[in-house]
Order: sequence, then structure tokens, then C-alpha cells
Amino acid sequence: MLRRLIALLLVLPCSAMAADGAALYAQRCAVCHMPQGQGIAGHAPPLTGMEAWLATELGRSYIARAVVHGLAGEIKVHGQSYSALMLTFRWRLGDEDLAAVLRYVAETINQPAAGYEPIGLETLRAARAASGRDVDTLALRAQLPER
Ligand code: HEC
Repeated sequence: MLRRLIALLLVLPCSAMAADGAALYAQRCAVCHMPQGQGIAGHAPPLTGMEAWLATELGRSYIARAVVHGLAGEIKVHGQSYSALMLTFRWRLGDEDLAAVLRYVAETINQPAAGYEPIGLETLRAARAASGRDVDTLALRAQLPER
């Protein structure tokens, strides 16, 4: 009995602290990208249709960099142009939370395809250390297939 209680006490704080990607998405992203990631035409791009990006290291690095550093510049998504501001999450969310919210985007808003791996702490740390200049983020994006 006592052992069970101790085991429970050890497990509880961990599960309570585990980052909840769905909740983070609802709180931090849905206001612009909408609850199902469908976006707002002309204002905030949809987060759907990122399967091909999520299936490569380069694509995952780009997504991590866009979210860590934010983005301002002209981009095209599903044939529609956007030239708006994505805010930086650099100081707003830690790596564990970023990993959780990106996992939600990758696995619930998108469907994991062959080659998919979750955007992990290593990729996020590299994104933090990389340039946050929009020109550099956009140059990385230009190497990816259109979506
Ligand atoms: C204030 C509104 C706003 C919030 C909040 C926001 N975004 Fe964005 N996001 C944008 C806009 C606008 C763009 C496009 C920027 C541009 O036009 O250059 C964008 C771009 C992106 C991109 C790059 C898309 C592409 O095709 O290159 C990703 C990935 C992204 N957001 C994910 C997220 C995630 C994940 C969150 C929550 C953690 C989030 N965004 C929160 C407005 C927002």
C-alpha cells in the first residue's frame, strides 16, 4: 500500500508537468492559425499540408526556426500570398513546450508521412542558435517544396 502510494507520488508530478501540445496550440497558435490549423486567408497561413516538410530534416529545421524566431516576409501557402507577422516564441515558450506544440501540429493538424520524426529538443536548440533574421529564414524556406 505504502509502496503504491510512493509510486503514485513519483508519477503524478511528472504527468502533471508534461507539456500538453493540444492545450498549448489552443492558447498560443489558434488565435491566428485557427483551431484546426485552417488559417485565415490573407492574414495567417494554414498549418495544414506540411507533411512533406515534416518528412525531412531541412523542413523540420525550417518549421522550428519560423516558430522560434518568428517571421515577417512574403510567403505563399496553398496558392495564397501572405505578408504578415508571425511573432517570435523564443522567450514565450521553452523547448519542451515548443516540442509539444509542434508535435500537435505535426501529428494532429497534419498526418505523419514516411520520413516523419517529431521536431525534438536538438532541432529546437539548433534553431535557437541559428540566425533569426527573416532573410535567412526565408532563404531556408525557399529550399523547400511549395505547399
Ligand atoms: C499573431 C498571430 C500568430 C500567432 C499567435 C502564431 N502565428 Fe504562426 N504565423 C503567423 C503569420 C502571419 C505567419 C506568416 C508570416 C509571413 O507572412 O511571413 C505565420 C507563419 C507560421 C509558420 C510558417 C508557415 C510557412 O508556410 O512558412 C509556422 C510553422 C507557424 N506560423 C506556426 C505557428 C505555431 C506553431 C504557433 C503557436 C506556437 C504560431 N504559429 C502562432 C501568425 C501567427
